[in-house]
Amino acid sequence: MPEFDLLLRDADVIDGSGTPRFRADVGVRNGLIAAVGDLGNASASQVVSLDGLALSPGFIDVHTHDDRLVLSDPAMTPKVSQGVTTVIVGNCGISLAPMGMTPPTPPLNLIAGDQDAHRFDNFADYFAAMDAAPPATNCAALVGHTTLRARTMASLEREANDTEIAAMRALVDEALRSGAIGASTGTFYAPAKPATPREVQAVFEPLRGTDAVIASHVRDETGPVLDSIDEVLGIAAALGVRQVISHHKVVGKPNFGRSRETLAHFDTRRREAADPTRVCLDCYPYAASSTILRADTVAIAKKTLIAWSIPIPEASGRTIDEFAAERKLSIEQAIEALQPAGAIYFSMDEPDVERILAYPETMVGSDGLPHDRFPHPRLWGAFPRVLGHYSRDRGLMPLERAVHKMTGLSAMRFGLKGRGFVHPGCAADLVVFDPQRVRDAATFEAPTRPAEGIIQVLVNGVATWVDGRHTGARSGQAIRRRH
Ligand code: ZN
Ligand code: CU
Repeated sequence: MPEFDLLLRDADVIDGSGTPRFRADVGVRNGLIAAVGDLGNASASQVVSLDGLALSPGFIDVHTHDDRLVLSDPAMTPKVSQGVTTVIVGNCGISLAPMGMTPPTPPLNLIAGDQDAHRFDNFADYFAAMDAAPPATNCAALVGHTTLRARTMASLEREANDTEIAAMRALVDEALRSGAIGASTGTFYAPAKPATPREVQAVFEPLRGTDAVIASHVRDETGPVLDSIDEVLGIAAALGVRQVISHHKVVGKPNFGRSRETLAHFDTRRREAADPTRVCLDCYPYAASSTILRADTVAIAKKTLIAWSIPIPEASGRTIDEFAAERKLSIEQAIEALQPAGAIYFSMDEPDVERILAYPETMVGSDGLPHDRFPHPRLWGAFPRVLGHYSRDRGLMPLERAVHKMTGLSAMRFGLKGRGFVHPGCAADLVVFDPQRVRDAATFEAPTRPAEGIIQVLVNGVATWVDGRHTGARSGQAIRRRH
């Protein structure tokens, strides 16, 4: 019997911890990293010589809306092609479980299909579906507050009453017992806007005393951004759990430059926290955002691209200005005519994006919207863009630190044990890439072009992406929180 299933020789190992790379061999056995070091003439069923290419942990996409994609298109090509081996779903308050047959009011329509397939009353069923038909990446899940409201409340225009809170709490309980790693909120969106901090804290009471996490799309990323951050940090602190500020940014021209203030604020809040690792954030590496089409967001964007529209699908990829002019509509009328719809908003300042990405505590998440007809390029490019454009070309941070932000740091903050590092005993989620060539190829004009320089991707030890091609492997696992 050979010692290893796979032996990767002469790799430049970037192990996910942020420390300098080192030359080593890595042995994989039974889906796990079995040994790292000079493995001499160890025997293996398969030996691959990497000749100094970079070998790092597979990337963890901490901010996704892949809830349905893991089942509807389990090859997960937009993610695997970037080197992503784990996705965290259920962000921004939006989760597929336990949506059940609740009508998918926006923004739930970003993930819910119009078919009855892939609808789940609870997390046990959602995870069971993934076990039965595994996707190509691992998947960990958050339970979304907006989903809970839509599922339990007769009217979404007010705060939840005690009966509704009890019903939501029971669903949170089920989610946690079934293996959800935490919860998410999105009070930015209409169906959750009337929720008060009191409601959110009461609904998430079952998280108290656990190592679960809350990730939040905060109420307002414009003028009141600091208050919005403090609102969610306050709830998490009261529950004694970790809080992630999702896709941290400052939007709208009057707020350009204010990332100086928000990052100093994070420093302060981390210093004051009972545990500084409870104050967390992620971002995507672009100066444009994307979500459902809404007038207030169009109003503060320099330019808005239509990502999808149910009644007028052919408008996808056009700017809202062009579309309105062509149809002789006002912007307001154009927005109305396109609904339900999604859009890409150019409403950030590049120096803010760089400053936030470079902040040592910031993790990388794509926030990709996989069901959009004309998606934001972050869906196919976020991770290679950080490695190529921001780390190598712009020199924003050493490659080791860039990798840490998408592997070890993410695994620690989201409580994914045994992942995120090239260490013996960790899952063999690995990516081989060429540091000189790695780059994102997806653009706002051609948003679904696969990245370059990602040479090999292993998920739980199984080769899934090799030399620019998907192998068809689907060796991902539903990652359940361990109690
Ligand atoms: Zn969001
Ligand atoms: Cu999101």
